[in-house]
Amino acid sequence: MTDKPIALVTGAAQGIGYACAEALAEDGARLILSDVNADGVDQAAKRLGHGAVAIPCDMGDPDQITALFDRIEEEHGIVSILVNNAGIAMPADFLDTTPEQFQRVIDINLTGTFLASQRAAKGMMTHGIAGAIVNMSSINAQVAIPSIAAYCASKGGIMQLTKAAALALPPYNIRVNAVGPGSIDTAMMGGVNANPAAMAKVMSRTPLQRVGAPREIADTVAFLASRKASYITGGDDLCR
Ligand SMILES: NC(=O)c1ccc[n+]([C@@H]2O[C@H](COP(=O)([O-])OP(=O)(O)OC[C@H]3O[C@@H](n4cnc5c(N)ncnc54)[C@H](O)[C@@H]3O)[C@@H](O)[C@H]2O)c1
Repeated sequence: MTDKPIALVTGAAQGIGYACAEALAEDGARLILSDVNADGVDQAAKRLGHGAVAIPCDMGDPDQITALFDRIEEEHGIVSILVNNAGIAMPADFLDTTPEQFQRVIDINLTGTFLASQRAAKGMMTHGIAGAIVNMSSINAQVAIPSIAAYCASKGGIMQLTKAAALALPPYNIRVNAVGPGSIDTAMMGGVNANPAAMAKVMSRTPLQRVGAPREIADTVAFLASRKASYITGGDDLCR
Protein backbone atom coordinates (compact mmCIF):
# COMPACT_ATOMS: atom_id res chain seq x y z
CA MET A 1 0.00 0.00 0.00
CA THR A 2 1.16 3.59 -0.61
CA ASP A 3 0.06 7.17 0.11
CA LYS A 4 0.78 8.18 -3.49
CA PRO A 5 -2.31 8.27 -5.74
CA ILE A 6 -2.68 5.06 -7.71
CA ALA A 7 -3.00 5.66 -11.44
CA LEU A 8 -4.18 2.96 -13.84
CA VAL A 9 -3.42 3.43 -17.54
CA THR A 10 -4.94 0.94 -19.98
CA GLY A 11 -3.23 0.16 -23.28
CA ALA A 12 0.03 1.28 -21.66
CA ALA A 13 2.53 -1.03 -23.37
CA GLN A 14 3.39 1.61 -25.98
CA GLY A 15 2.34 4.82 -27.72
CA ILE A 16 0.14 7.39 -25.99
CA GLY A 17 -0.66 5.06 -23.07
CA TYR A 18 3.00 4.57 -22.18
CA ALA A 19 3.61 8.31 -22.45
CA CYS A 20 0.65 8.92 -20.08
CA ALA A 21 2.15 6.49 -17.58
CA GLU A 22 5.48 8.31 -17.82
CA ALA A 23 3.91 11.75 -17.30
CA LEU A 24 1.80 10.59 -14.35
CA ALA A 25 4.78 8.84 -12.72
CA GLU A 26 6.82 12.05 -13.01
CA ASP A 27 3.94 13.86 -11.29
CA GLY A 28 4.22 11.47 -8.34
CA ALA A 29 1.59 8.81 -8.98
CA ARG A 30 2.13 5.10 -8.43
CA LEU A 31 1.56 3.50 -11.81
CA ILE A 32 -0.33 0.38 -12.80
CA LEU A 33 0.23 -0.25 -16.50
CA SER A 34 -2.26 -2.56 -18.16
CA ASP A 35 -2.42 -3.92 -21.70
CA VAL A 36 -3.63 -6.94 -23.66
CA ASN A 37 0.03 -7.37 -24.70
CA ALA A 38 1.32 -9.08 -21.55
CA ASP A 39 5.02 -9.15 -22.50
CA GLY A 40 4.93 -5.62 -23.88
CA VAL A 41 3.37 -4.15 -20.76
CA ASP A 42 5.76 -6.04 -18.53
CA GLN A 43 8.71 -4.53 -20.38
CA ALA A 44 7.05 -1.10 -20.38
CA ALA A 45 6.65 -1.13 -16.58
CA LYS A 46 10.30 -2.14 -16.16
CA ARG A 47 11.40 0.61 -18.55
CA LEU A 48 9.31 3.19 -16.70
CA GLY A 49 10.69 2.35 -13.26
CA HIS A 50 9.21 4.47 -10.41
CA GLY A 51 7.89 1.18 -8.91
CA ALA A 52 5.43 0.77 -11.80
CA VAL A 53 3.51 -2.48 -11.93
CA ALA A 54 2.26 -4.34 -15.03
CA ILE A 55 -1.02 -6.24 -15.08
CA PRO A 56 -2.26 -7.74 -18.37
CA CYS A 57 -5.91 -7.15 -19.26
CA ASP A 58 -8.05 -7.31 -22.40
CA MET A 59 -10.30 -4.27 -22.08
CA GLY A 60 -12.78 -5.96 -24.39
CA ASP A 61 -13.49 -8.63 -21.77
CA PRO A 62 -15.67 -7.55 -18.81
CA ASP A 63 -14.47 -10.44 -16.63
CA GLN A 64 -10.85 -9.42 -17.14
CA ILE A 65 -11.69 -5.83 -16.21
CA THR A 66 -13.29 -7.02 -12.97
CA ALA A 67 -10.26 -9.21 -12.26
CA LEU A 68 -7.91 -6.29 -12.98
CA PHE A 69 -9.58 -4.01 -10.43
CA ASP A 70 -9.93 -6.85 -7.87
CA ARG A 71 -6.21 -7.50 -8.11
CA ILE A 72 -5.23 -3.83 -7.90
CA GLU A 73 -7.43 -3.31 -4.84
CA GLU A 74 -6.06 -6.42 -3.15
CA GLU A 75 -2.40 -5.80 -3.88
CA HIS A 76 -2.06 -2.02 -4.16
CA GLY A 77 -5.15 -0.04 -3.13
CA ILE A 78 -7.82 2.12 -4.72
CA VAL A 79 -7.33 3.61 -8.17
CA SER A 80 -7.90 7.37 -7.99
CA ILE A 81 -6.58 8.23 -11.47
CA LEU A 82 -7.89 6.19 -14.38
CA VAL A 83 -6.74 6.75 -17.96
CA ASN A 84 -8.97 4.82 -20.35
CA ASN A 85 -6.51 4.76 -23.22
CA ALA A 86 -6.72 1.24 -24.74
CA GLY A 87 -8.14 1.43 -28.23
CA ILE A 88 -8.07 -0.20 -31.64
CA ALA A 89 -9.17 1.06 -35.04
CA MET A 90 -9.52 -2.16 -37.11
CA PRO A 91 -9.83 -0.42 -40.51
CA ALA A 92 -12.20 -2.04 -43.01
CA ASP A 93 -14.35 -0.85 -45.86
CA PHE A 94 -17.73 0.22 -44.45
CA LEU A 95 -19.67 -2.30 -46.55
CA ASP A 96 -17.31 -5.15 -45.64
CA THR A 97 -17.17 -4.55 -41.89
CA THR A 98 -18.54 -7.62 -40.11
CA PRO A 99 -20.72 -7.47 -36.99
CA GLU A 100 -17.90 -9.20 -35.12
CA GLN A 101 -15.34 -6.57 -36.16
CA PHE A 102 -17.74 -3.76 -35.28
CA GLN A 103 -18.53 -5.30 -31.89
CA ARG A 104 -14.88 -5.91 -30.98
CA VAL A 105 -14.01 -2.25 -31.52
CA ILE A 106 -17.01 -1.12 -29.47
CA ASP A 107 -16.24 -3.66 -26.74
CA ILE A 108 -12.66 -2.43 -26.25
CA ASN A 109 -12.96 1.29 -26.96
CA LEU A 110 -16.38 2.11 -25.53
CA THR A 111 -17.73 -0.66 -23.28
CA GLY A 112 -14.29 -1.17 -21.72
CA THR A 113 -14.11 2.55 -20.97
CA PHE A 114 -17.58 2.45 -19.39
CA LEU A 115 -16.90 -0.63 -17.25
CA ALA A 116 -13.51 0.58 -16.03
CA SER A 117 -14.90 4.04 -15.25
CA GLN A 118 -17.83 2.60 -13.33
CA ARG A 119 -15.64 0.24 -11.32
CA ALA A 120 -13.04 2.92 -10.58
CA ALA A 121 -15.76 5.35 -9.51
CA LYS A 122 -17.33 2.78 -7.19
CA GLY A 123 -13.95 2.15 -5.57
CA MET A 124 -13.33 5.86 -5.01
CA MET A 125 -16.90 6.43 -3.81
CA THR A 126 -16.78 3.54 -1.33
CA HIS A 127 -13.50 4.72 0.18
CA GLY A 128 -14.26 8.46 0.06
CA ILE A 129 -11.31 9.16 -2.25
CA ALA A 130 -11.47 12.01 -4.76
CA GLY A 131 -10.14 11.30 -8.21
CA ALA A 132 -10.08 11.83 -11.93
CA ILE A 133 -10.91 9.80 -15.00
CA VAL A 134 -9.43 10.75 -18.38
CA ASN A 135 -10.78 9.06 -21.49
CA MET A 136 -8.87 8.82 -24.76
CA SER A 137 -11.29 10.06 -27.38
CA SER A 138 -10.19 11.19 -30.85
CA ILE A 139 -10.78 13.78 -33.51
CA ASN A 140 -12.88 10.96 -34.98
CA ALA A 141 -15.48 11.55 -32.28
CA GLN A 142 -16.46 14.40 -34.60
CA VAL A 143 -14.73 13.86 -37.95
CA ALA A 144 -15.97 10.70 -39.66
CA ILE A 145 -13.78 8.44 -41.82
CA PRO A 146 -15.64 5.72 -43.73
CA SER A 147 -12.94 3.04 -43.37
CA ILE A 148 -13.07 3.17 -39.56
CA ALA A 149 -16.81 3.40 -38.91
CA ALA A 150 -16.76 1.38 -35.69
CA TYR A 151 -13.83 3.45 -34.39
CA CYS A 152 -15.68 6.69 -35.15
CA ALA A 153 -18.81 5.36 -33.44
CA SER A 154 -16.81 4.27 -30.40
CA LYS A 155 -15.08 7.64 -30.03
CA GLY A 156 -18.35 9.53 -30.52
CA GLY A 157 -19.74 7.31 -27.77
CA ILE A 158 -16.81 8.15 -25.50
CA MET A 159 -17.56 11.85 -25.98
CA GLN A 160 -21.10 11.46 -24.60
CA LEU A 161 -20.08 8.86 -22.00
CA THR A 162 -17.54 11.37 -20.68
CA LYS A 163 -20.21 14.04 -20.29
CA ALA A 164 -22.72 11.66 -18.68
CA ALA A 165 -20.14 10.39 -16.19
CA ALA A 166 -18.99 13.95 -15.48
CA LEU A 167 -22.58 14.85 -14.55
CA ALA A 168 -23.03 11.72 -12.41
CA LEU A 169 -19.85 11.83 -10.33
CA PRO A 170 -19.41 15.32 -8.77
CA PRO A 171 -21.09 14.18 -5.51
CA TYR A 172 -18.09 11.88 -5.05
CA ASN A 173 -15.46 14.45 -6.09
CA ILE A 174 -14.62 12.56 -9.24
CA ARG A 175 -13.92 14.56 -12.39
CA VAL A 176 -14.22 13.03 -15.86
CA ASN A 177 -12.67 14.49 -19.02
CA ALA A 178 -11.60 13.27 -22.42
CA VAL A 179 -8.85 14.31 -24.77
CA GLY A 180 -9.42 14.10 -28.50
CA PRO A 181 -6.08 13.81 -30.30
CA GLY A 182 -5.80 14.43 -34.01
CA SER A 183 -2.79 12.58 -35.42
CA ILE A 184 -0.10 11.40 -33.04
CA ASP A 185 3.09 9.61 -34.00
CA THR A 186 2.41 6.04 -32.80
CA ALA A 187 1.99 2.57 -34.34
CA MET A 188 -1.67 3.45 -35.00
CA MET A 189 -0.47 6.15 -37.44
CA GLY A 190 1.81 3.73 -39.35
CA GLY A 191 -0.40 3.52 -42.45
CA VAL A 192 -0.80 7.30 -42.70
CA ASN A 193 2.92 7.99 -42.19
CA ALA A 194 3.70 5.78 -45.18
CA ASN A 195 1.12 7.41 -47.46
CA PRO A 196 1.79 11.01 -48.60
CA ALA A 197 -1.78 11.50 -49.88
CA ALA A 198 -3.24 10.38 -46.55
CA MET A 199 -0.77 12.62 -44.70
CA ALA A 200 -1.77 15.62 -46.84
CA LYS A 201 -5.40 14.99 -45.92
CA VAL A 202 -4.50 14.79 -42.22
CA MET A 203 -2.57 18.08 -42.43
CA SER A 204 -5.54 19.80 -44.09
CA ARG A 205 -7.40 19.50 -40.76
CA THR A 206 -4.44 19.91 -38.40
CA PRO A 207 -4.06 23.49 -37.12
CA LEU A 208 -0.42 23.10 -36.01
CA GLN A 209 0.53 21.51 -39.37
CA ARG A 210 2.47 18.64 -37.85
CA VAL A 211 1.87 15.26 -36.28
CA GLY A 212 1.88 15.31 -32.47
CA ALA A 213 4.18 13.39 -30.13
CA PRO A 214 2.66 10.97 -27.60
CA ARG A 215 4.06 13.01 -24.74
CA GLU A 216 2.15 16.10 -25.91
CA ILE A 217 -1.10 14.20 -25.33
CA ALA A 218 0.20 12.65 -22.12
CA ASP A 219 1.01 16.05 -20.60
CA THR A 220 -2.58 17.13 -21.21
CA VAL A 221 -3.82 13.92 -19.61
CA ALA A 222 -1.56 14.44 -16.59
CA PHE A 223 -2.83 18.03 -16.27
CA LEU A 224 -6.47 16.86 -16.37
CA ALA A 225 -5.70 14.24 -13.72
CA SER A 226 -4.00 16.78 -11.46
CA ARG A 227 -5.26 19.27 -8.88
CA LYS A 228 -4.43 22.02 -11.36
CA ALA A 229 -7.54 20.93 -13.26
CA SER A 230 -9.72 20.85 -10.14
CA TYR A 231 -12.49 22.91 -11.78
CA ILE A 232 -12.51 21.09 -15.12
CA THR A 233 -14.97 18.27 -15.74
CA GLY A 234 -16.98 17.10 -18.74
CA GLY A 235 -14.42 18.40 -21.25
CA ASP A 236 -14.44 16.13 -24.26
CA ASP A 237 -12.43 17.84 -26.92
CA LEU A 238 -8.95 18.85 -25.72
CA CYS A 239 -5.94 18.37 -28.06
CA ARG A 240 -5.71 18.27 -31.86
N1 LIG B 1 -2.23 7.85 -32.62
C1 LIG B 1 -3.19 8.70 -32.95
O1 LIG B 1 -3.08 9.48 -33.91
C2 LIG B 1 -4.46 8.76 -32.14
C3 LIG B 1 -5.37 9.78 -32.41
C4 LIG B 1 -6.54 9.87 -31.67
C5 LIG B 1 -6.78 8.96 -30.66
N2 LIG B 1 -5.89 7.97 -30.40
C6 LIG B 1 -6.21 7.02 -29.32
O2 LIG B 1 -5.13 6.91 -28.43
C7 LIG B 1 -5.18 5.61 -27.81
C8 LIG B 1 -3.81 4.99 -27.89
O3 LIG B 1 -3.46 4.81 -29.24
P1 LIG B 1 -1.97 4.80 -29.78
O4 LIG B 1 -1.91 5.73 -30.91
O5 LIG B 1 -1.01 4.95 -28.66
O6 LIG B 1 -1.94 3.32 -30.40
P2 LIG B 1 -1.00 2.10 -30.22
O7 LIG B 1 -1.55 1.08 -31.15
O8 LIG B 1 0.43 2.49 -30.31
O9 LIG B 1 -1.27 1.63 -28.70
C9 LIG B 1 -2.47 1.04 -28.31
C10 LIG B 1 -2.21 0.14 -27.12
O10 LIG B 1 -3.45 -0.43 -26.73
C11 LIG B 1 -3.26 -1.82 -26.53
N3 LIG B 1 -4.51 -2.55 -26.72
C12 LIG B 1 -5.09 -2.89 -27.91
N4 LIG B 1 -6.17 -3.63 -27.67
C13 LIG B 1 -6.29 -3.74 -26.33
C14 LIG B 1 -7.22 -4.40 -25.49
N5 LIG B 1 -8.20 -5.15 -25.98
N6 LIG B 1 -7.05 -4.30 -24.14
C15 LIG B 1 -6.00 -3.61 -23.63
N7 LIG B 1 -5.09 -2.98 -24.39
C16 LIG B 1 -5.24 -3.05 -25.72
C17 LIG B 1 -2.20 -2.21 -27.53
O11 LIG B 1 -1.59 -3.46 -27.20
C18 LIG B 1 -1.26 -1.02 -27.47
O12 LIG B 1 -0.29 -1.18 -26.47
C19 LIG B 1 -6.29 4.84 -28.54
O13 LIG B 1 -7.47 4.87 -27.76
C20 LIG B 1 -6.48 5.62 -29.81
O14 LIG B 1 -7.77 5.49 -30.33
C21 LIG B 1 -4.73 7.85 -31.13
